Amino acid sequence: MPNWDAELYLKFSRERTQPSVDLTARIAIPDPGRIIDLGCGPGNSTAVLRQRWPKAEITGLDGSSDMIAAASRSYPHHEWILGDISAWSARIPFDLVFSNAALQWTPSHEVLFPHLFAQVAPGGALAVQMPAHFDSTLHREILETAGNPSWRHLMGQALNALTKKPPSFYYNLLQPLAARLEIWRTEYYHVVDSPQSIIEWFRGTGLRPFLAALENEEQKMRFEELLLERYTRAYPPQNDGRILFQFRRLFIIAYRA
Ligand SMILES: C[S@@+](CC[C@H](N)C(=O)[O-])C[C@H]1O[C@@H](n2cnc3c(N)ncnc32)[C@H](O)[C@@H]1O
Repeated sequence: MPNWDAELYLKFSRERTQPSVDLTARIAIPDPGRIIDLGCGPGNSTAVLRQRWPKAEITGLDGSSDMIAAASRSYPHHEWILGDISAWSARIPFDLVFSNAALQWTPSHEVLFPHLFAQVAPGGALAVQMPAHFDSTLHREILETAGNPSWRHLMGQALNALTKKPPSFYYNLLQPLAARLEIWRTEYYHVVDSPQSIIEWFRGTGLRPFLAALENEEQKMRFEELLLERYTRAYPPQNDGRILFQFRRLFIIAYRA
């Protein structure tokens, strides 16, 4: 998997952080003592958790040393762990296992989600947000660009890099385990300057495996050019010339009895 770049990720920091604000606001646990933020990135989602529960003991875990370094520079008083979500288990269960915009990068959700739920203490919750790529223009245009005969043979890993399951998958998985389950989807309309801004946005996240699969800079430029043509058609300008960039996100909160 190509490396994460904290600086590039934080370019759209306000927009990227809003879903963690919305997820945190809906968690109906008044006073969780211990919280873990899985795939904490540069610490932006962890800071949202800290703001809502200033007294909680909060740990951030991420698989990227660049992200953990950025998080510890910005928030030196938190506990930061470099680690892989797929291999993580809690020594003592957490009152809140939280993950914003990270679990789409992990495989085998049929195993991972029940495992994460098992790391939640009684009365606590598993709270997750992921892009709803099972149903997104944003991602579909990338998949179609990846199908171009010039590089289709290189794209095997990239096509499977993101997990894209629909809401019913998570309902059927978690409903037998949870005392209460809430699932919802929000469509954000981010205002960006141009279709090029959408590419810049996604270059820091979901586009990375596709660009990494290509053989050289010339192919990468051509891939982005073709994708830009598609985004220009899919996201027409508004009256002021700017673009409404629709981004659908799936939210899940599973409460433990
Ligand atoms: C899109 S960022 C999300 C950052 C932050 N949580 C937020 O709300 O903006 C995804 C993060 O997940 C991390 N990540 C992806 N797969 C991971 C894994 N298997 N284990 C640990 N971290 C992972 C990446 O390093 C990256 O920092």
